[in-house]
Amino acid sequence: MVMEKSKVFRDITESKEYQRTRNLRQHGNVTVFEHSVYVASTSLKISKKLHIKVDEDVMIKCALLHDYFLYDWHDKDHPKLHGFRHASIAAENADRDFGLTKKEYKAIRSHMFPLNLRLPSSREALVLTLADKYCAASETIKTRKNRRVMKRKAAKA
Ligand SMILES: [Fe+2]
Ligand SMILES: [Fe+2]
Repeated sequence: MVMEKSKVFRDITESKEYQRTRNLRQHGNVTVFEHSVYVASTSLKISKKLHIKVDEDVMIKCALLHDYFLYDWHDKDHPKLHGFRHASIAAENADRDFGLTKKEYKAIRSHMFPLNLRLPSSREALVLTLADKYCAASETIKTRKNRRVMKRKAAKA
């Protein structure tokens, strides 16, 4: 399946509501939009590699919407305890704007496991938590590397 061509991917990413995530920063210079697309493609790759049978449409939808909390958590006035609360906020927003099944809602709400102690209750939910952690770590490492390179360049100039 070519993720970018799937109906679920296009319906969500091309919607006016979802375009807001292009202006919200997630890790370093990575936007919520970029992070979420990365998590979606990584989720599909992980499920194939580990032979975990997932519903690909559900997987893509949950991954795209798992961080749909719609505020910049770098701002001072963002909701408190972002790490603990944003999964529930994202699930509520996603249900309002795109409509979620119970399974999708639960997968989004548990994506911060073990931080929020909500156990992933489906294969899609399990893959989502793994993919999200992998992507967040790799984005953070890339950002740190970029900063080191910029510092070195600035020192030489
Ligand atoms: Fe998250
Ligand atoms: Fe995430």
